[in-house]
Amino acid sequence: MSSNIKNICCIGAGYVGGPTMAVIAQQCPNIIVNVVDLNEQRIAQWNDPSLDNLPIFEPGLKEIVSKTRNINLFFSSKIKECIYQADMIFISVNTPTKNKGIGAGQASDLKWIEGAARQIQKYGRSGTIVVEKSTLPVKTAKMITQILNDSFQSDPNKRFIVISNPEFLSEGTAIENLINPDRVLIGGEESDSIYSLKEIYLNWIEEDKIITTNLWSAELSKLTANAFLSQRISSINSISALCESTGANINEVAKAIGMDKRIGSKFLKAGPGFGGSCFKKDLLNLIYICNYYGLNEVAEYWEKVLSINEWQKKRISKIILEKMFGTLSNKKIAILGFAFKSNTNDTRESPSISICKDLIQEGCKINIYDPEVNKKNIEEALAFVNEDLEESSWDFSNSVYEAATNADAILILTEWSEFKNLNWYEISKIMRKPSWLFDTRSISNIKNAQSYGINIWEVGT
Ligand code: UDX
Ligand code: ADP
Repeated sequence: MSSNIKNICCIGAGYVGGPTMAVIAQQCPNIIVNVVDLNEQRIAQWNDPSLDNLPIFEPGLKEIVSKTRNINLFFSSKIKECIYQADMIFISVNTPTKNKGIGAGQASDLKWIEGAARQIQKYGRSGTIVVEKSTLPVKTAKMITQILNDSFQSDPNKRFIVISNPEFLSEGTAIENLINPDRVLIGGEESDSIYSLKEIYLNWIEEDKIITTNLWSAELSKLTANAFLSQRISSINSISALCESTGANINEVAKAIGMDKRIGSKFLKAGPGFGGSCFKKDLLNLIYICNYYGLNEVAEYWEKVLSINEWQKKRISKIILEKMFGTLSNKKIAILGFAFKSNTNDTRESPSISICKDLIQEGCKINIYDPEVNKKNIEEALAFVNEDLEESSWDFSNSVYEAATNADAILILTEWSEFKNLNWYEISKIMRKPSWLFDTRSISNIKNAQSYGINIWEVGT
């Protein structure tokens, strides 16, 4: 299929921009795709000749980058040139929650969006289509349009068209989600630009999966999808606590309710609480706009989803403390998994961060092992929540066995497949006695561990 778009620029080479552009480049060999970022170190990692150092870990990503990089996919910091050459510009910059000022702790910090919009205004050619890809509060497209077309005009004849194309990819399965999405959503007010983007997706996605809506519906659909998904996790986690009190088993309950087609079986896994860059931020955005429009009851309803998530994390820290005789001082806990979920090296909002912080504050030493998260990222994440983080309070391990050596307890926080069938016979020999296994993901062979004398606790059982 031929498209009128021959050159794409994506601003932001992160978890969204990187994989999305790699798949577009792979599926549309006739389009030049330039991914630009202010962060030169990140760009250097994307350009690493060995491909072993890509800034993000996603199954299947390396293979696609190896086939497209420097053919029709380019990573650079040449922001000005790439914006100028583009027929279509994707904005995929970070939009974290504000940590100060009005709306702190709730509204998104839009300074990176504004920065990108100003760059487009300055260097872009009139008529270029701007695609809003980052997760954003509803009505951000309006703000981008204002920046591009009404204010700060270097050239009053320049006009840009803004459309919204929210990203639904889930980390760890990003490539699969991009190649075979449940749906693609394009929101806009102008049919030609919507069609230009649709044409790109038609290269590999069936037409009936591509939905077009108005701008606000597209933006709100993204927030709503993430609100519903996070609500399911808080729902199942709330029932996990009830299961533990009553003797029911959360896995059996999840299976039984999931077979009801109206409920469905996905996203019913109890755990240490949801993490990731989107769920909390999108819930907070939803709560913020509900309050803004005076819909306080609606805001309170969604606030509860967040508070159950915080409660689940604290509940796990408390259980560990209670089971280990009410004190953790001078004890050592091996933490298995630091990423917010498996198959990613992303630690943003990972439940591991606050649980590790609680344990450190109780005076124990933690030894962290994660197959993909490196020491530096763990250190930064822990230091962020714990200003007085002492070097001696934690250690980085290169394997499960290294982490478990002389540990009083093992705490599984991420569902990496390598934790499924651990050799509990060997592990029981290197741990201190009495030994504990806390499995917050219900992933390990817990009965096997118990047979070697390890005390066990599994979420929701
Ligand atoms: C999410 C949305 O799924 C995606 O569509 C959106 O575009 C971005 O946000 P992501 O944050 O990558 O994606 O991960 P997701 O798979 O949704 O998991 C989020 C969190 O929920 C993780 O911490 C995960 O461990 C947890 N989770 C998920 C559970 O605890 N139980 C489940 O059954 C599913
Ligand atoms: P996401 O998960 O949404 O992809 P990331 O933080 O992984 O978020 O990536 C966003 C990227 O956008 C970062 O690498 C950041 O340096 C980059 N970025 C932010 N603002 C700009 C800008 N104005 N121009 C170029 N890159 C930007």
